[in-house]
Amino acid sequence: MASRGGFSNRIGFVLAAAGSAVGLGNIWKFPYEAGQNGGAMFLLVYLFFTFIICYPIMVGEISIGRRAGKDAYGSYKKIGGGRWGILGLFGIICGVMILSFYNVVAGWAFGYFLEISFGSLLKEGDFGAFFGRYTADYGDNFIFSICFMIITAFIVVRGISGGIEKASRILMPTLFIILIGLIIYSLTLENAMDGVRFYLLPDPSKLNIETIYSALGQAFFSLSLGMGALITYGSYIDKNQNIATSAAMITVMDVSVAFLAGLLIFPLVFSQGQTPTEGPGLVFVVLPGIFEAMGPLVGRIIGGGFFLLLCFAALTSTISLLEVPVAFLVDEKKLPRKAVVWILAAFIFLVGLPSMLSQGAVEAFSSLSWYDDKSFLDFVAEVFSDISLPLGGCLMSIFIAYRWKTYNMSEEIGNGYPAYKGSIIEKFVNVVITILAPIMLGLMFINTMLSKFFEISMF
Ligand code: TRP
Repeated sequence: MASRGGFSNRIGFVLAAAGSAVGLGNIWKFPYEAGQNGGAMFLLVYLFFTFIICYPIMVGEISIGRRAGKDAYGSYKKIGGGRWGILGLFGIICGVMILSFYNVVAGWAFGYFLEISFGSLLKEGDFGAFFGRYTADYGDNFIFSICFMIITAFIVVRGISGGIEKASRILMPTLFIILIGLIIYSLTLENAMDGVRFYLLPDPSKLNIETIYSALGQAFFSLSLGMGALITYGSYIDKNQNIATSAAMITVMDVSVAFLAGLLIFPLVFSQGQTPTEGPGLVFVVLPGIFEAMGPLVGRIIGGGFFLLLCFAALTSTISLLEVPVAFLVDEKKLPRKAVVWILAAFIFLVGLPSMLSQGAVEAFSSLSWYDDKSFLDFVAEVFSDISLPLGGCLMSIFIAYRWKTYNMSEEIGNGYPAYKGSIIEKFVNVVITILAPIMLGLMFINTMLSKFFEISMF
């Protein structure tokens, strides 16, 4: 254990895992997914998946990691033996692909920070047109996403308990406070209440398979589940940590930030007369409007500050994504950490190039004829995140239920939480992992495959 490094204490782990969870998924992806999928109805389904399905899966992932004390592949292999390592490999590949496009979006956020603080973005007026131009311009994107990957690599090189634990301690609460301040301000704007209604009053007619499917993918993505990030982080904690309460804290922090992001964005959307179905540009188009209204100086400070914090939130997430393949190569292949980090960072950056160029810069990547004319970035996000993460969660549940066995998991959790055994939480976690998650996630996966490739829907 000691030679692999580890979190300095319980708070360090919870903050790092919450830092992994809170990111672009909460502030960029959640609002636009909710906007496209019926607002409040999406929120409701997302909350259901988060607390009922994802929380137990998070407990499972962390337990696997702590029991085995290895990377995602090594952990499955050590506990399950034989071919179970494949589950870990699958997760590692998903992590690489997710980071490849995540880093591109993080580059946009970084660019927005600079353009708002030091450039003339707030004088643009038409922020939709600006966003379109900005993401199609590969010059800026290339530089900023390289910067982002380099900063990520720098931190990952330094190992687990380096600066990031300390940074999270200050940055996460600051992000929270800025969010609340902006929400209060945005609620006073004209027509803001239409946004609140859209976001908080569910309309049952909006419930369809597409909403359920998006909410499920979002819940996994936002909590960093389904690909071994929390197995890897779990391998760095001590036996006396209480996994069940740590996981609950991580889940609640993550959900709160997503919820607040929605509460900020939708009133703005409606008060600016925009449409909530805008898609991936939503946050980048709507937020500058509020900063512009604050006047040139205050807008620069608050707006720049907001995007800077978004970059920090994204950074604690890219770190966790990079750590997964790094831990694999260091643990399994005994390669030196530093070299592994830099080579992987360069490799993943290259893998991300088509995604970067898929926002209008290169037509062939921007509209894939074999994928409904969607962009390459959409393709990677759907395949490796929306589809693969819930599948990864499904397979992990099957692994625990039929290979590792829930009583072994309970024993592992019991190390840091003696009252766990026999508790209601244990029963809940076990029912979800042995029955609910495999069935629900399995059905969702089969349905997705059928509808994507054969245009058949079971529901
Ligand atoms: N959860 C992060 C977000 O919401 C993204 C992320 C970090 C992630 N690590 C992950 C997603 C691992 C899936 C798997 O922005």
